[in-house]
Amino acid sequence: MERKLKPCRALRGEVSLPGDKSISHRAVILNSIAAGKATVENFSPGKDCLSSVACLRALGVAIEVYPGERRLIISGVGGDGLKEPQDILDAGNSGTTMRLLSGLLAGQPFFSVITGDSSLRSRPMGRIIDPLRQMGAQIWGRRGDAVAPLAIRGGHLQGIRYRLPVPSAQLKSAIVLAALFAEGNTVVEEPVASRDHTERLLKAMGAPLVTSNSEIVVAPGPLRAVDLRVPGDISSAAYWLVAACVHPDAKVQVKNVGMNPTRTGIVDVLKSMGARITISNERTEGGEPVADLLAETSELAAVEIGGDLVPRAIDELPIIAVAAAVAKGATVIRDAAELRVKESDRIATVVRELSRLGADIEERPDGMAIRGGRRLQGETCSSYNDHRLAMTLAIASQIAQGETTIADAEAVDISYPGFWQELERLCST
Ligand code: S3P
Repeated sequence: MERKLKPCRALRGEVSLPGDKSISHRAVILNSIAAGKATVENFSPGKDCLSSVACLRALGVAIEVYPGERRLIISGVGGDGLKEPQDILDAGNSGTTMRLLSGLLAGQPFFSVITGDSSLRSRPMGRIIDPLRQMGAQIWGRRGDAVAPLAIRGGHLQGIRYRLPVPSAQLKSAIVLAALFAEGNTVVEEPVASRDHTERLLKAMGAPLVTSNSEIVVAPGPLRAVDLRVPGDISSAAYWLVAACVHPDAKVQVKNVGMNPTRTGIVDVLKSMGARITISNERTEGGEPVADLLAETSELAAVEIGGDLVPRAIDELPIIAVAAAVAKGATVIRDAAELRVKESDRIATVVRELSRLGADIEERPDGMAIRGGRRLQGETCSSYNDHRLAMTLAIASQIAQGETTIADAEAVDISYPGFWQELERLCST
């Protein structure tokens, strides 16, 4: 599907966010192996989280989905209740589904195969295969155990000590999930912090998990089902925050935004660029911080982004490039080579497509450099079937002269099925 967009005269109003994608995956996966029933409200309607639901059903978990209400009811099967799937599990486009479920499957005394779409089948899986093998799982992948499909014969795991070679919450969570089924303690050393939703939810479910001094210690143990309401996805809010800041006439309210400190890099970056963002009504819901945000037309200045900030803003770096394209000065994003192994090579695709619109942006091995201030021009560009790129280009179209056409615009459904409707609602022409 192609989308044609012109800049709106003004962007005003309140947007409604989907539930956080990362927390939704964890809510359904962890409650599936807990004892008892759990109700999850505001579950992400994106296709990625539905891939997790489909895989868990194929593993014998009864999950009722009420799509209109974004509610799930999960009948947890307990620690030893998963069944060998009769067919290949399909994670679709979802790296979180494949990596977290591989950790879970490594702990199960049966055989399973997990695959995904062509993007997911090209993403690195050696990083999970290594530690899961060290724990005792038998696990294989294509291209010398580098990529999916993955075949797993689990069971008989031993706890290990493992230092994460990349700051990846998916890798960390895969090991933690396997550790719930291993003999003895597992210690995961995390030199650079990544999102900690798995740890928070496991603690709420009564798991023997302790976090201190950049280490997570997990022991096997039963989980208690927990009801929760998923906060709004800050990674989805990011598009509206940037849209409001870069647009000459904008005021956008985003309510119920998840403000977990491992995810708020986008707010820190925009504020350091001079963005007018007001945070109010700060509270805690289901063990996660939540707040309402208001963003308005701003005068942005360039920033340097690198180091520990990168994992806290990893999925928002494409949309930050749009903010940088209007900011005064040269923005540099470094230490972000991980972007190359996301749903697309996000360094190459962001640079290629924003250049097409006239941005002054240069590719670097581990990031990009953007000189702000050049007027963007509408053009035909592609999402490369990458949801975050489709939404990034949609916001870029709001500061481009003339019409922008985005090919494969339906990619937004991966994390934000209502995105186009929300844009229309905000837009006065
Ligand atoms: C996610 C972690 C991040 C992020 C992805 C979702 C998660 O990936 O990019 O969109 O839910 O754990 P990595 O952990 O591989 O960096």
